Order: sequence, then C-alpha cells, then structure tokens
Amino acid sequence: MVLLHVVGARPNFMKLAPVLLAGQAAAGLRQVVVHTGQHYDAAMSDAFFRDLGLPAPDENLGVGSGTHAEQTARIMLGFEPVLDRHRPDWVVVYGDVNSTVACALVAVKKGVRVAHVEAGLRSRDRTMPEEINRILTDQVADLLLTPSRDGDTNLLAEGIPASRIRFVGNVMVDTLLRLRPRARELGMAARHAVPERGYAFVTLHRPSNVDAAAPLGALLEALNDLTDRMPVLFAVHPRTRRRITEFGLDHLLGRVRLLEPLGYLETISLVDSAALVLTDSGGLQEETTVLGIPCLTARPNTERPVTVTEGTNRLVPSDRAAVGQAITDVLTAMAAGHFAPRQPERWDGRAGERVVSALREMSIKAQAGGD
Ligand code: UD1
Repeated sequence: MVLLHVVGARPNFMKLAPVLLAGQAAAGLRQVVVHTGQHYDAAMSDAFFRDLGLPAPDENLGVGSGTHAEQTARIMLGFEPVLDRHRPDWVVVYGDVNSTVACALVAVKKGVRVAHVEAGLRSRDRTMPEEINRILTDQVADLLLTPSRDGDTNLLAEGIPASRIRFVGNVMVDTLLRLRPRARELGMAARHAVPERGYAFVTLHRPSNVDAAAPLGALLEALNDLTDRMPVLFAVHPRTRRRITEFGLDHLLGRVRLLEPLGYLETISLVDSAALVLTDSGGLQEETTVLGIPCLTARPNTERPVTVTEGTNRLVPSDRAAVGQAITDVLTAMAAGHFAPRQPERWDGRAGERVVSALREMSIKAQAGGD
C-alpha cells in the first residue's frame, strides 16, 4: 500500500509526524511526503521538520503565499503531476488549510482515495477560510478520521455515511505526549527570564483578529494591560507582524515582549510552564487542554468544543475589557485549583496507529468489494 501525505502549513506538520511513524512501523507500506510550500520560512517550516524528527519531504511544490484563489490554484496545478508520478493508494490530507482542500480535490477527481485526518470539526462560521476548507474536504474524502465524537456527529448531520467515518482521536496529542519531555528540557521560561507559571504566552494570527486595526488594536491594548500583572511573551506570526506595522500599532505594545515565530519544542516548552495562554490558534486550544494550562481563545466560536467542555479553554471576544475580565476570572479559578489536566476520549497518544489501521482496513474492504 502506498500512502501519499500532503502537508503545507505549520499546523500540518505535527499531525503528519505520528501517522508517518505509525506507517513506518507497519509492514508493507510505502510512504511519500509532499510539502506544498504554503509555508516556506525556515521558522514556519524547516524548524518543525527538525523538531519533529521528520525526514525532508520527497516533493516540495514551492507554491508560496498569495490570495486564496492563487494559492489554491497553484497547489492544484503543482500537485497533479506529482500524484500521477507516485500513483498512491491513498492521499492523506491534514487539518483545514488551503493545501488540504486543494490536494483532496485533485486526488478525488483522478479517482485516488482521500483520507482526511482531523475531519468533522465545525466552527459554523463560514467567514473563516478554514471552515470552507473543512466542509469541502469532508464532502469529497473517502475516509474521515475524526479527533473527537462531535466530529462524527457533525459529519452524520451533513449526510456523510457512517461507513466513511472513523473516530481515531487526536493525532496532534500523539506528538505532544511524545515530545513533551524534550520540550521541558529546553527550559524556555528560564531562557527568557520569566518565572515558571508566572507569565502569559500569546499567539495571534487569524484574519478576523489581525487583518483589521480595531480588533488587533484592542488585543494589543489588552496584552499591554496584562503586563501590569505578569510578563507577556508574544510569538508573532509574520502576517501579524506585518499588520501591526501597517496599521501603525507598534506603540500599543508597551512592555509586551515580542518573539520571532518559534519552533515546536520551544512553543510547547513555553506553553507548558505558562500561567495562561491567549491565542486564536486551533492547535493551542488542544495542547493547553492536555497540558492543563488555562487558555483564552480570542474568537466568537471554536471548531474544537471539547477543549471548552472537557478542557481548559474559554472563548473571549477580541475586546480590551472582556479580555481583562476573562484573565481575572481565569487567575481566580486557577488560584482555587480548578485547572486539572484533562484528556478527552482517545487523546491518548495512539491516534496515529488508529489512522494507519483504518487505512488498511478500508483498503482491504475496497479490494474485497472489487474496487
Ligand atoms: C495558514 C492557514 C491557517 C493556519 C495558519 C498557521 C489557510 C487558509 N490558513 O494561515 O489555517 O492556522 O496557516 O500559521 O490555509 N508568511 C510568511 N512566511 C511563511 C508563510 C506565510 O511570511 O512561511 C506570511 C505571508 O505574508 C503570507 C501570510 O503570512 O501572505 C499568510 O500566510 P498564509 O499561508 O496565506 O496563511 P496563514 O495566515 O499562515
């Protein structure tokens, strides 16, 4: 069986790693990794391959940045000949980025089976590009591998037959549990001279927060307010860095400490010993849940509701006063000992193995059916 994995952007890499490892451990499997080049800076891509122990990709389409249409189209054009060359049994796509939907569409139209890892998540917010990518990818994929039970419920409600859905758990948690000890060894809090459990770690990159001056300004003011209570370390995505300057908001940063985009191990090290995390990332909502670190997510909705119902996550509007109040609430709850680490069902470090088992099982079924 030949698996062709597609990754393109930062959050894909930690999802690929456990599936690739499980595939390497399985007999009779050949694997190919295609990087679309959606993310290309060393800090956004190479650093992750290194931290995760991933081999260099077999193919890099080098598509780079652009509008959604440009980027998606370039990925599709670049991917088609690569797919023709490798003729895999499965194309495995991850998460909800433009690379995910672009390659799923190319593969399904060429009659190659598509498996979607992290299927079924829904924010019900169609202004998010990721929501469109999720809906479309799930509709065309042959095998939908869900990280949580709500994923199954969402897919069934959209008319996807149960026979195409497998609840495998969260592959990103496999990576987190595997690499947490190494991340701890880095001791990033000490390196940045901030007290363990005595600082906030921040990331912001969603277009809804950073592509307009009003929400971005409000969030920067809230971060600066927070520096009265504790040091604030803000790992800045290139998109956000550009916007802060474009909107003339640098003066709002005050004592907030800006960091370049961090590698995976550096990020987990800083998250693991923070007092709280403020973010709009999808992955950090999950990682803080597993690590038991309070997380404030600056969004009106989340496609990862188990992080709120079973984890440490709380949604907060991108508003200065609301963020300030939420921080007070979180610090009070934490002082009262209300943040014990939780593990939603099948967030147990074995999801990658379940993905490979599901792929094998579906292939056998398809062959038996004369497919
Ligand atoms: C993409 C994903 C988002 C994911 C995020 C993680 C889509 C639609 N969005 O958003 O779901 O959470 O990645 O980072 O796929 N840039 C660089 N260097 C890079 C990559 C990007 O400087 O290596 C800058 C460019 O100016 C680019 C901008 O960041 O235009 C946005 O990059 P893009 O890949 O379009 O989207 P992200 O905001 O990174």
